[in-house]
Amino acid sequence: MINLPDFELLKISQLSGIPTRKIYDALDHVLIILPSDPPETLFRRLPQGTQLRRLLKKTRNTKAQSATSRLNNSKATGVTVATLDGATTAFNQLTWARKIITRCSQDQPGNLGILVLGLEEEKRQSTLENLVAAAEAAAFQLPTFKSVKKTKAPLERIKILASKPRVNLNTIRAQALGNNIARWFTALPPNKLDAKNYRKLVKALCARYGIQATVLDESKLERLGANAFLAVSQGNANRDAGIIQLRYRPPGIKYPGLMLVGKGILFDTGGTNLKPFKSMLDMHMDMEGSAVALGALIALATLEVPYGIDAWLAVTENRLSATAYKSQDIIQAANGTTIQIIHTDAEGRMVLADTLALAAREKPDVIIDYATLTGTCVSALTERYSGVFSNRIKANALLYHAGVSAGERVWPFPMDEDYDEMLHSEVADIKQCSEAGYGDHILAARFLSKFVPKDIPWIHIDLSAGQHKGGLAHIPSDITGFGVKLTLELLSERGPTALAKELS
Ligand code: BES
Ligand code: ZN
Ligand code: ZN
Repeated sequence: MINLPDFELLKISQLSGIPTRKIYDALDHVLIILPSDPPETLFRRLPQGTQLRRLLKKTRNTKAQSATSRLNNSKATGVTVATLDGATTAFNQLTWARKIITRCSQDQPGNLGILVLGLEEEKRQSTLENLVAAAEAAAFQLPTFKSVKKTKAPLERIKILASKPRVNLNTIRAQALGNNIARWFTALPPNKLDAKNYRKLVKALCARYGIQATVLDESKLERLGANAFLAVSQGNANRDAGIIQLRYRPPGIKYPGLMLVGKGILFDTGGTNLKPFKSMLDMHMDMEGSAVALGALIALATLEVPYGIDAWLAVTENRLSATAYKSQDIIQAANGTTIQIIHTDAEGRMVLADTLALAAREKPDVIIDYATLTGTCVSALTERYSGVFSNRIKANALLYHAGVSAGERVWPFPMDEDYDEMLHSEVADIKQCSEAGYGDHILAARFLSKFVPKDIPWIHIDLSAGQHKGGLAHIPSDITGFGVKLTLELLSERGPTALAKELS
């Protein structure tokens, strides 16, 4: 059995004064961010000013506008000088931050000082936020299983120097925590993260944060008539599948204002319609939606938001076996809708259909679901953007702008009713998907909409940006954990009740 790591290892402190030689001596590496043409007086105030001025000159026309050297102090502290690259979007600024932090990390510092000088206050704060976001992501170790552990010392401490006034890092650190949780679970191999272990690990993690966890197991789901979920889970070799229900309640609040739902397919073989090798290879990550819902819940809980939140994780494998569901099976979901099965690889929408229908019975103000749902969403957007869909047209602009601010970019797709013609079934209420295959991300969203009552504002996020080779924005790993930061951005200005009103 695998152990949960400590997800909050990085220690961050802020010092107010201009750094002294003594402070430099206590650091393994110091990162200094300067305007590209700073006034002379700025260097005069700094110890080692002459050397820093020389380094600044070197940054011109280099990759990510940065240069690295060693200070002439007793410790020979590593130093990286960098200038902002004029990036105007949050996405580009976060990408810059990832490159700068990668550069500092090559020195393997256990403690890193960060000094941002000569920028206007708002810019100083956002730059520090971006660097901390990148550092939190880079410092966090994704699970590895090497018999001989690497000796590389992780980054353990950040000291923000000359930080006056102090920068409020609460939100950015909560986002990092949620993102690290999402990436850690998604990175686990499928034999380590089976349904039983996922339940155990999630329960243990939630206990740390005062979040309640229960499971709707297969027998309870049977009683609830959740046959769409069970159609997928019936192919498993064990009976451990289920919907993990997590509840965050601030004092005095009984109900979830916000309902998060996540696709938790632990391994997607495609089922009876088996995937070929390359398409199946990374399908242990098909639970990323559930990990993002979990990460977002914990992030919001650590911020002690004043509303209740549930996260319901639909956890099962999608296997090829004698008991696996088949094309042309007819399944009746928990809300009574009958479904004609076309393709067993469209399992995500099956488990989400029942999870959404059951979650809606809690009468939340807003439902948001996260799922690595369709290959066509990746074809449409590549892995740089995720697709968003909603039963409220006003959500599109809101989500787009939240994506721009968060640096987790999303693009809305149409949800017009006439798409339903492509899901018309002669024998059931609806087809699970179309035989044709094109526009499947839109059809999948239309399919899911049949399981969400019209009076509940609902947002569906198809996580095409859940994995991106070489990382994305501030995230350095292929697994991006995309969605946690976006969710916090969306809810930072308003709680779910106000959000629902804004969407109506
Ligand atoms: N998990 C996949 C979708 C996916 C594939 C997401 C690759 C991200 C990367 C999903 O369950 C699936 O297999 N969808 C099918 C649907 C089709 C059979 C209608 C697909 O996209 O091919
Ligand atoms: Zn599938
Ligand atoms: Zn899948």
